[in-house]
Amino acid sequence: MEHADTDPLAARRRRVLVTGAHGQLGRALQEAFADEDVLALGRGAWDVTLPPPELPPPPPSLVLHAAAWTDVDGAEADPQGAAAVNVGGTMHAAELARAAGASLVAFSTDYVFDGERREPYVESDGPNPLSAYGRTKLQAEGAAGEDAWVVRSSWLFAEQGTNVVRTMLRLGAEREEVAVVDDQRGCPTYVSHLAAATRELVDGDLPRGVWHLAAKGDCTWAEFAEAIFEQAGIACRVRRIGSGELARPAARPAYSVLRSERPGAPQLPHWRDGLRECLARIDR
Ligand SMILES: NC(=O)c1ccc[n+]([C@@H]2O[C@H](COP(=O)([O-])OP(=O)(O)OC[C@H]3O[C@@H](n4cnc5c(N)ncnc54)[C@H](OP(=O)(O)O)[C@@H]3O)[C@@H](O)[C@H]2O)c1
Repeated sequence: MEHADTDPLAARRRRVLVTGAHGQLGRALQEAFADEDVLALGRGAWDVTLPPPELPPPPPSLVLHAAAWTDVDGAEADPQGAAAVNVGGTMHAAELARAAGASLVAFSTDYVFDGERREPYVESDGPNPLSAYGRTKLQAEGAAGEDAWVVRSSWLFAEQGTNVVRTMLRLGAEREEVAVVDDQRGCPTYVSHLAAATRELVDGDLPRGVWHLAAKGDCTWAEFAEAIFEQAGIACRVRRIGSGELARPAARPAYSVLRSERPGAPQLPHWRDGLRECLARIDR
């Protein structure tokens, strides 16, 4: 076995700390940085509402903060709980990065926008979150600090975890028809594409601050569900409904397509390509 101190490659590898390591994005980040010295911390290893634990040396040179409260409806009932994770957790991640002299990437969301526009949101557009979740994520962007990369993305899906692709595959196998909202438009983004774009941002040492990194193209949830059934070969009809029919606790933006206006912004593949790649890797 080769030891780190005799392995010339090990010396060049960065210690990359991933928080929320068992989430959809946390797993994809581990894959995208697999050639580095990744320290992956799930909630059991670090509950980010608490100060950082003692870490094994060496200190990280990069912190990828993927831990978050992502239950959008649940945040309406427990906004303090959501804030403790999203705002408090990001403050702790920033503290850790500062103490280690590491760079920080914090992830944020299209739900910081109110969705009143009908053309893509760019980084300089003013946020105005409609939900408790969106408010905590906007505050978290501030908590990340000016030296962080703040990556806003949208409608994440992956082969594991809780997401619309997995939900539709399950429902499509059980039912002949599903009702899906057709009055919210966004960019369904495959986490592996987001993780690769994040790596491009970091490795290219692009300027810090807010970046919009989301899949090319846009659609409504109903259009996305139709594409899932079509690509997966499932004969299930999609009945298009309005958000009002679902009466969910949290309001969502009607339009939250994200694009970057920043020079050199990493470009992600189209959401249909992300869906194809995800379905090819998913356990069915
Ligand atoms: N999902 C989306 O559609 C979406 C869209 C835009 C932006 N984002 C942002 O992208 C990032 C990653 O989201 P995701 O989709 O990967 O979410 P996810 O699958 O829900 O993963 C979040 C992870 O954070 C962990 N976590 C929750 N509370 C924690 C705590 N107190 N301490 C440590 N870990 C904790 C969760 O652990 P448990 O499993 O134990 O709860 C989970 O593993 C988040 O910042 C999210 O706001 C997500």
